[in-house]
Amino acid sequence: MRDKILVIGSSGQLGTELVQKLRDVYGIENVIASDTKVTEQAKEGPFEVIDVLDVNGLLAIVKRHNIKQIYLLAALLSATAEKMPKIGWELNMNGLFNVLDLAKEKIIEKIYWPSSIAVFGSNTPKENTPQYTIMEPSTVYGISKLAGERWCEYYFNKFGVDVRSLRYPGLIGWKSVPGGGTTDYAVHIFHDAIHKGNYECFLSENTKLPMMFMSDSINATIGIMQADVNKIKIRSSYNLAGFSFSPKEISQEIIKHIPNFKITYKPDSRQEIADSWPKSIDDNFATLHWGWKPEYNLELMTNEMIKNIKK
Ligand code: SER
Repeated sequence: MRDKILVIGSSGQLGTELVQKLRDVYGIENVIASDTKVTEQAKEGPFEVIDVLDVNGLLAIVKRHNIKQIYLLAALLSATAEKMPKIGWELNMNGLFNVLDLAKEKIIEKIYWPSSIAVFGSNTPKENTPQYTIMEPSTVYGISKLAGERWCEYYFNKFGVDVRSLRYPGLIGWKSVPGGGTTDYAVHIFHDAIHKGNYECFLSENTKLPMMFMSDSINATIGIMQADVNKIKIRSSYNLAGFSFSPKEISQEIIKHIPNFKITYKPDSRQEIADSWPKSIDDNFATLHWGWKPEYNLELMTNEMIKNIKK
């Protein structure tokens, strides 16, 4: 029998696509989607309403479905958590503890938990940021992710919890839109380019950040979860990279498809967050340990985004 999988926070940017792919791989009935309220996803397969902060509610659903693996995607992202620091901290940390404890108690067997490039800060080397380096995040989100990484490693070392994690760059896909992040512009720009012909960017033109096409991030996520247990040598979180670009560079790529596209710049509070993050990431350990390899670059990603959003 297949392990039953629960995806918490399944209706967000990543969850929307991840649930579809997990169901292709493991079967619709074996993947339970869940979020804090019922969404369209409930029409596609098993769905539960779960607040990850409600330990008893979570436990009841895990037992009812005999869940063995949890993908914990519920979190407040960087920009939102700056506006609601206490709520961001509580959700991002206590949500993680509730799921880690299920594995510590041997109720579930495996956890996926995403970290982020937000664990790095202004004092981190910005180009080709190494796996092991200075980590002094300045956002609530980054602090919660760095603390979460330490706790994941701690639960692995002390209690043998099989938790696996990736430090995602900005994620770009056409099936879903992000909410509350600093890298969100790289999705919004496509929708506005196609529907309005122009885009006002909340980051300045040369703000280069690490990004990744959604299908690559899904492959990395399922890849690390399927990897042989002895191949996972980093139990905090793996650096993960796709490609890097600035708003100006992506706009130049979009102009190849939409010649009249115009971008303007009006940096807001998210600029400061972006300025504290790396520009590019060294993900050599992911390649070395469990065979990670991205397929998309800026050009291929732009082709896919424009083709599919136009449909
Ligand atoms: N994409 C996230 C954000 O911008 C970073 O992990 O908050």
